[in-house]
Amino acid sequence: MKYLLFLFLILMTSTSLHAIAASDVSSNAVVCAPSSDNINAGDLNIFHSASPPAHKIREIAWLVLGICAAIFVVVEGVLIWSIIRFRKRARDAGEPVQVFGSNPVELAWTVIPTIIVFVLALATLRTIREVELTEPPAGSLNVDVIAHQWWWEYRVPNLEGNGTIVTANELVVPVGRPIWLTLHSADVIHSFWIPQLNGKTDVIPNHVNHTWFQAERAGIFLGQCAEYCGTQHANMLLRVTAVDDAAFKAWCVHQSSAVVSDPAVEQGRNMFLNLACMNCHAIDGVSEGAFGPNLTHIMSRTTIGAGVAPLNPTTLRAWVDDPQNLKVGCNMPSLELDPNQLDAIVAYLLTLK
Ligand code: CUA
Repeated sequence: MKYLLFLFLILMTSTSLHAIAASDVSSNAVVCAPSSDNINAGDLNIFHSASPPAHKIREIAWLVLGICAAIFVVVEGVLIWSIIRFRKRARDAGEPVQVFGSNPVELAWTVIPTIIVFVLALATLRTIREVELTEPPAGSLNVDVIAHQWWWEYRVPNLEGNGTIVTANELVVPVGRPIWLTLHSADVIHSFWIPQLNGKTDVIPNHVNHTWFQAERAGIFLGQCAEYCGTQHANMLLRVTAVDDAAFKAWCVHQSSAVVSDPAVEQGRNMFLNLACMNCHAIDGVSEGAFGPNLTHIMSRTTIGAGVAPLNPTTLRAWVDDPQNLKVGCNMPSLELDPNQLDAIVAYLLTLK
């Protein structure tokens, strides 16, 4: 019987380790869809933090992991020692000595866990206070995030002019500056999560939440919606590009520049206006639809469909033809255009750089 118990314990330990390894692999699998453009080159590891709140989360993760590992080693050690030390030997006859009750033991396993829980609770409270600010940090850039099924809308203040830059799915931020995010949802509950920059924050309809981060180095930081929100929850990817101040200002100038109207794509532009496109998509100076992503500078982005595929003429054409092929369940229908119409629309969209 005791050998069975021993075997069971070893099995439990190895399966839980496997489960951890498997979850790691599967989370990579989601973001590492095969792609020659490698749009998913990024890191979802919370232990590779690159922002103050993410550092705090990493610290508490190590603390909890360390305490739990110590408990595991002590409990399993005593258990294994007991199994070996008190096993039935050939010379043993009859029942062993029966022991009932022990005040020191009862006291030990009441007091020690209480202290451990107390330490974990205090450490967690301190982390929550440090991570969840109630006011924007000094000098922060205020960005509005609006979650949609299944993409992200960003409204970034234009540092190089008036107004706001409206973009989708790919957030560009300056390195070293706190980014204060105001989170809204247009439909269901989502969760904003960029593991290297911050913890998860729910994005709730009719309820404004806030979170913040401060990228400490330039680079691309990936994230995922972390609250099940429907069919394409897994393909509601986040992508933050942190760049230096000069590059951020250049980005602002580019994003707020007027659309160049190219007479060669007039046919596609007219189709955009005459078909259903303009009802859902905004293009500065052309249309004002707000249901889908703003397309004013769509070709400045690297992905399509909230990170479902790299953005290039082929994927763009496939998307306009029938978005359901790339992202089943998304709210954009196929307009069932003929190849010529498709070519015209795509040619127009390609000029929106
Ligand atoms: Cu949005 Cu899950």
